[in-house]
Amino acid sequence: MLTAYDYTGAQFVDAAAIDAILVGDSLGMVVMGLETTLPVTMDEMLHHCRAVARGAKYAHLVGDMPFMSYQAEVAEAVRNAGRFLREGGMDSVKLEGGREVTATVRAIVTAGIPVMGHIGLTPQSIHKFGGPRAQGRTAAAALRLVEDAEALEAAGCYAIVLEAVPAPVAATITRRIDIPTIGIGAGAGCDGQVLVYHDVLGLFDRIHPPFVKEYAHLSEAIVTAFSAYRDEVVNGQFPADEHSYAMKDDELAAFHQRLTQII
Ligand code: KIV
Repeated sequence: MLTAYDYTGAQFVDAAAIDAILVGDSLGMVVMGLETTLPVTMDEMLHHCRAVARGAKYAHLVGDMPFMSYQAEVAEAVRNAGRFLREGGMDSVKLEGGREVTATVRAIVTAGIPVMGHIGLTPQSIHKFGGPRAQGRTAAAALRLVEDAEALEAAGCYAIVLEAVPAPVAATITRRIDIPTIGIGAGAGCDGQVLVYHDVLGLFDRIHPPFVKEYAHLSEAIVTAFSAYRDEVVNGQFPADEHSYAMKDDELAAFHQRLTQII
């Protein structure tokens, strides 16, 4: 799985035969320039979901439920989850949390909407964790994660993201539950992996989690291209004749002649 946030990006991910696209609330940081995911709204998520849904033809599409779209009331959570499918063109939704969200997961699944869970470092709880810290690093915390994963499976989740969790803990969870685990900073023992689009392409330098692997460093290539464009405009190399519309000679002559009459 990879994240994507717009039409063109979704087409790239689809073309690479990635199984699933997550329209993550990480868009708050990598697209909107926010410090955290917390201010992202339902309407902002749906705007990006629609763009991704137009670009992706093959991948399973997961819409990330933003902060406070599912925490306050179960009925509101069901309605908001429904908007991801009806208005956003998504196939399923993802929400963060363990045993504390199982009633919500059950209600959304009962409404016919598949739910992906997300435990470990859940960015919407960043203030509770005191920062972007790996989770499940003590025996007690690791056990709680196992119990959370089992509770989410029992509540009806079809898959669970494990974020920033020690590899042996993630591997144990993966063995203990029957639904797929999708790791990010959770080692190779998960069933699948997810990364953020901008991180894979080297487009976002502000935050660099240790578990990210850059498969390209496109920010340099982009700035090089933009600088070349700027230089060519300044020195008159761009646009050249092939980038301009021509006019038939007789029309051009008539144009000049009429112009002299007007002037
Ligand atoms: O918002 C997001 O991109 C995510 C992934 C990092 C799992 O939740």
